[in-house]
Amino acid sequence: MSLAPALSNAFRITPETDADREEVEALVMAAFGPGRFAKTAERIRETAHMSAAFVAREDGRLTGSVRLWSITVDGLDALFLGPIAVVSDARRGGLGADLVGACIGEAQHRGVAGVLLVGDPHYFERFGFQPAPDVRLPGPADPRRVLWLPITSAAPSGLALPA
Ligand SMILES: CC(C)(COP(=O)(O)OP(=O)(O)OC[C@H]1O[C@@H](n2cnc3c(N)ncnc32)[C@H](O)[C@@H]1OP(=O)(O)O)[C@@H](O)C(=O)NCCC(=O)NCCS
Repeated sequence: MSLAPALSNAFRITPETDADREEVEALVMAAFGPGRFAKTAERIRETAHMSAAFVAREDGRLTGSVRLWSITVDGLDALFLGPIAVVSDARRGGLGADLVGACIGEAQHRGVAGVLLVGDPHYFERFGFQPAPDVRLPGPADPRRVLWLPITSAAPSGLALPA
């Protein structure tokens, strides 16, 4: 896991450390429940290298988390975003946007082709994520929820695999 380079919202987002791990797991479990282990995204995360991860804390309490994983999409280097979660009583305050912003900064710093995720288009399109109909995942996924944020002009096409 790298230490973050330039973070646009660094005042409350920091790189995840080993000391954060237990609270991150609890936050993600509370946000998604055990059903998340059945998701195709989890198949990627099981074997991919965690490329970076960020947390937010307020008064010592973990309030948000996001992780990024190294993948390739038919040979293109990219990052896979998720899970992203904010504690329920801190939502709608822009923290989710700050976490996504940290991920975009990380992807720009690394010079990867883009950021892939499986998520709600209504939420993620505001950051520039677009449907990626030509990208396939190693398992079933609603194609409307497979989203790509381009960092370079390379167009993703083919199978997304852990790297
Ligand atoms: C998604 C999540 C991380 C957003 O965090 P947040 O701090 O509330 O995000 P922001 O404050 O930056 O943005 C809030 C906006 O996102 C919308 N939003 C939140 N969750 C959403 C979702 N799952 N789908 C669509 N829109 C969502 C809110 O309605 C709000 O919209 P508005 O700006 O039009 O009012 C948070 O709601 C969460 O942890 N949800 C549970 C876990 C989850 O579903 N994660 C993956 C989402 S695909």
